[in-house]
Amino acid sequence: MANSRRKTPEQLRSHRWLGVQDLRSFGHRSRLRQMGYDSVDWAGRPVIGIINTWSDINQCHAHLRARVEDVKRGVFQAGGFPIELPAISLSEPFVKPSTMLYRNFLAMETEELLRSHPIDGAVLLGGCDKTTPALLMGAISMGIPAIFVPAGPMLRGYWRGKILGSGSDVWKYWDEKRAGKISDADWAEMENGIARSFGTCMTMGTAATMMSIAEALGMTLPGASAIPAADSAHPRMAAAAGRRIVEMVWEDLTPAKVLSPASFDNAIKVHMALGGSTNAIIHVIAMARRAGIALSLERFDQISREIPVIANLRPSGTYLMEDFYYAGGLPALMSVLRDRLDCSAMTVSGKTLGETIESAAVYNDDVIRSPDRAIYPEGATAILKGNLAPRGAVMKPAAAEPRLRHHRGPALVFRDYNHMAAEIEREDLDVTPDHVLVLQNAGPKGGPGMPEWGMLPIPRKLVKAGVRDMLRISDARMSGTSYGACILHVAPESFIGGPLALVQNGDHIEVDVSRRLLHLHVSEEELARRRAEWKPLPPRYERGYGAMFQQHIGQADEGCDFDFLESGAPVPEPEIH
Ligand code: FES
Repeated sequence: MANSRRKTPEQLRSHRWLGVQDLRSFGHRSRLRQMGYDSVDWAGRPVIGIINTWSDINQCHAHLRARVEDVKRGVFQAGGFPIELPAISLSEPFVKPSTMLYRNFLAMETEELLRSHPIDGAVLLGGCDKTTPALLMGAISMGIPAIFVPAGPMLRGYWRGKILGSGSDVWKYWDEKRAGKISDADWAEMENGIARSFGTCMTMGTAATMMSIAEALGMTLPGASAIPAADSAHPRMAAAAGRRIVEMVWEDLTPAKVLSPASFDNAIKVHMALGGSTNAIIHVIAMARRAGIALSLERFDQISREIPVIANLRPSGTYLMEDFYYAGGLPALMSVLRDRLDCSAMTVSGKTLGETIESAAVYNDDVIRSPDRAIYPEGATAILKGNLAPRGAVMKPAAAEPRLRHHRGPALVFRDYNHMAAEIEREDLDVTPDHVLVLQNAGPKGGPGMPEWGMLPIPRKLVKAGVRDMLRISDARMSGTSYGACILHVAPESFIGGPLALVQNGDHIEVDVSRRLLHLHVSEEELARRRAEWKPLPPRYERGYGAMFQQHIGQADEGCDFDFLESGAPVPEPEIH
């Protein structure tokens, strides 16, 4: 960037706290001295806030306590002043009822941490599922230069010579155990081998999808998203991000200058080529809306029809993220899609996307395929609509048994998760492989927080009979590591009286992926009668964060953001007095 556009030290946001001569700035500087810093540490230097989502109970971010020191090293090298700011960690397996309940909490925390402190630029450390969109949503709303440092995937899992993938192989072997095909001892042994290092899930689940999307959006350093957390390239990338953010502050390279409708299209194309998690649709819509860019579910469907799945990664394919990294990682995948991407999109590196992938190459063409050898020719994610989901629903046809992509069958309805859990193991459950399992009250308000219950278990008696896939419909989400004929994110949700609430046992439901149809074969008159009789459930929370969540959360097709966070007048800078 031309020097004429570079900021001066007096134009830094932190100058208002540290650079002026008044009573308040005396207090700020004296308190920095209290921590052992001297004016040489901060005077005329950009202050870099490092939002760290490390915690003692986040296995995927266990290394971020050390990695933040690498970021600081880079910030110091480039002449900045690093400040670490801890934020809520959101460990996917441990946080209940669902980390999705807290994505907006972390987004809000990120934005307010950056706004309320003397921060000129931000480095965002995250990766476990919701942390990536949350950090980016907060940083986009705050609007200062920001760079995302992905936590990176963990190493491959192993069990008796077999490779194990996070999530996907858990679901697979759990069904084998329920069917009596593997023993308790086998199952216990797998527990030792499936998660061998720090880092995120190493299948193409939500974490890997969202870290890849962050890179495709231009918000990470090129090639950052697939670096295994335990690889020495990871701390080098973290230090490089620390160096780069200092330059970004001088260049005033804000998220608004990086993100555009073209960069979001690029991200959706990458998502489709990866066969990425269905969860990403909600997060991408939410991030785009924070950036003032309207994205509809239809846009995902259009792109899905154009882009084949070329990453041979579980759960859609065979390999894991470590293999993807060795095959060239995301720059290699994007180089295969080069003609379909907008290569003029900007990135935090200060280069266009096209420049960053110029020399990228594929080193294993079974992991990153050419489009003519695609894993799935089109439609990694299909958007279905019909009288059962007037505002849309999401399905991953590539992960479903082909017979279920066009299917009509009778509904078996569970009114909530506990009802489903109590029934599904019953040996005398009146269910056939042609039934359509329906789960109600699992959406944004009903779950609450839209838990990952959408891959309903196959009823025990059918698992024992060898059934491994059935059509399942809910307003819940499912883990990105899950698979099967699961129709998710039905909007509007049943808890607020969406048509899913009106389905009864035995009603016929038809799904036709090629026509993008989701239809409940019940007459309009009968549906009107049921609607008039429908009674809302009481709110789940009377007080606290949950009550605020229920009041302000949007539906899945809107990105599930809080209404007061995604729009409204800009938040003023804090007064300093
Ligand atoms: Fe953290 Fe899967 S549990 S990414």
